[in-house]
Amino acid sequence: MRRILIANPKGGSGKSTLATHLASWAAWQGWRTMLGDVDRQQSTRHWLQARPEQFPPVHGWEAQLDGPMRPPKGTEWAILDSPAGLHGKKWAAVLDAVDSVIVPVQASPMDMWASEPFLQALAEAKVVRKGKIRVAVVGMRVNPRTQSARQLASFLQRFDLPCVTHIRDAQLYVQTIARGLTLFDLPTLRYAKEREQWQPLLDWLQAPA
Ligand SMILES: Nc1ncnc2c1ncn2[C@@H]1O[C@H](COP(=O)(O)OP(=O)(O)O)[C@@H](O)[C@H]1O
Ligand SMILES: [Mg+2]
Repeated sequence: MRRILIANPKGGSGKSTLATHLASWAAWQGWRTMLGDVDRQQSTRHWLQARPEQFPPVHGWEAQLDGPMRPPKGTEWAILDSPAGLHGKKWAAVLDAVDSVIVPVQASPMDMWASEPFLQALAEAKVVRKGKIRVAVVGMRVNPRTQSARQLASFLQRFDLPCVTHIRDAQLYVQTIARGLTLFDLPTLRYAKEREQWQPLLDWLQAPA
């Protein structure tokens, strides 16, 4: 079972967008997929409710921090979206329950500053240093051939965390979510260019730990 946490204490960084996309992609692979929310924030609840029946199912899962954070039996992919203010003991409990962490970061100075303490703490966490969990950063709403992308790359060097891909700013991400869908539910050929941006992240997730 893969257990993936999407985290960044900065609100609006793209966590729920990433979480729903990975969930629908995994569902299309035919894997039993759970999309959970840490601490009953339920930020992906509306998306789950809006998801049309004819698309591969993504199951909701209430991950509670006061009990064992184990996804239901038979789960193949468990994706955890996380709320803004997660820290301390709760944060440690969540880290213990996953094998990969993905951090979306936007390339603006404000976003990078706001993410800095979190990235620092994550890079220094014992489970990360010991290789028990893998961490990847995704440049969110970043065009790869811009100065912003370069600034994000040099910012990330400090933490020795890989930036596996950039996802461009596009209206489709806003519009599909409202319909309970993601890019991965749209026609493959027509959206091949957008899908290409996700491929390095999907490859990273599937690489042997
Ligand atoms: N690549 C993108 N292009 C355009 N809009 C995006 C993109 N990623 C996220 N958004 C939008 O940015 C806002 C914040 O994203 P969201 O995933 O809700 O962040 P978080 O869960 O970290 O608060 C949402 O309105 C979302 O639709
Ligand atoms: Mg969210």
